[in-house]
Amino acid sequence: MIKKTVLSGVQPTGDLHLGNYLGAIKNFAIMQNENDCLFCIVDLHAITVFQDPNQLRNNTYEVTAAYLACGIDPIKSIIFNQSQVSGHAELAWILNCICRMGWLNRMTQFKEKSGKNSENVSSGLFTYPTLMAADILLYKATHVPVGSDQKQHLELTRDIAQKFNNDYKSPDFFPLPEPYIEKEISRVMSLRDGTSKMSKSDISDYSRINLKDNKDTIVKKIKKSKTADMPMPSSQEKVTQMPEVNNLINIFTGVTSFSKQDLITKYEGQNFSNFKNDLSDALVEKIAPIGDEINKLMKDKSYLDQIMREGTEKARNKSELVLKEVYDIVGFIKA
Ligand code: AMP
Ligand code: TRP
Repeated sequence: MIKKTVLSGVQPTGDLHLGNYLGAIKNFAIMQNENDCLFCIVDLHAITVFQDPNQLRNNTYEVTAAYLACGIDPIKSIIFNQSQVSGHAELAWILNCICRMGWLNRMTQFKEKSGKNSENVSSGLFTYPTLMAADILLYKATHVPVGSDQKQHLELTRDIAQKFNNDYKSPDFFPLPEPYIEKEISRVMSLRDGTSKMSKSDISDYSRINLKDNKDTIVKKIKKSKTADMPMPSSQEKVTQMPEVNNLINIFTGVTSFSKQDLITKYEGQNFSNFKNDLSDALVEKIAPIGDEINKLMKDKSYLDQIMREGTEKARNKSELVLKEVYDIVGFIKA
């Protein structure tokens, strides 16, 4: 059987939260045991919106530390910083020439991020998805673990791969990558509003659990989280109609081995105080050690530098082989 190649990335743009963990990073650590894995810190993506340089540096170390703290093993997986492998930017240019304006115009994330201000955002924000396609195709990755907000970008990546293969009459050159999205926890919602996504940019810190939150903060945030005015219902169907409760149950399943039905059966008919206590305990057990480990690793920048340096070297070697093939297919002369 052919080994799969897995690639994913996280932007170094602020504190990582439970949505990043459950939607993406938790799966990275699981997938590394069976597959060839590359996990990058996508700093080129981060600067599509202005980043203070010192903050960007710090956040890049922090995502590296979070990868390690969440169980990514630098012996099994390649951890690297996107800007240090120049092939990402080089392939992105070529893919910009494949990708159609109409395709980019349909991207909902761009519409959300640019809002009413679309004339005044960077052109990098508009072409962001072609850089993401380059990240994936530069290693001929076949599987991409992400939260569901990235599904459309993955579909675009497949369209770009297919058009490249067709235009250059190179059938099967780029594989068409599959998203790996775990249904229930692929979109973790805000603790304050079950209809909006948990996000780094929400102004309320009470809307999310950060991976660096300590025990007391986690307990406080769950205590304050929104539930419902009626007791826990008896069926999944009814829970689905209560977005905040549904979200907390999904989170609970993500940090324990309980199924959704197990939890509904256990707390059916009760108000939410026991449920919240038990959920806090489970979160503290899972998340607090990750925060402690991130803080510890952040004190040893030279170790984090070494991890990135070694990863970059490996990623560069892999990427150069594919980029060379691409240049050749496109008709660039290497004299
Ligand atoms: P970002 O922080 O935007 O670079 O996202 C990194 C990864 O976390 C991506 O795979 C996202 O899809 C995922 N992600 C971000 N927010 C959430 C969320 N609220 N629920 C699930 N996954 C998320
Ligand atoms: N766009 C992704 C996000 O915002 C991050 C990302 C960049 C990515 N390149 C990638 C994810 C390649 C998967 C594969 O979350």
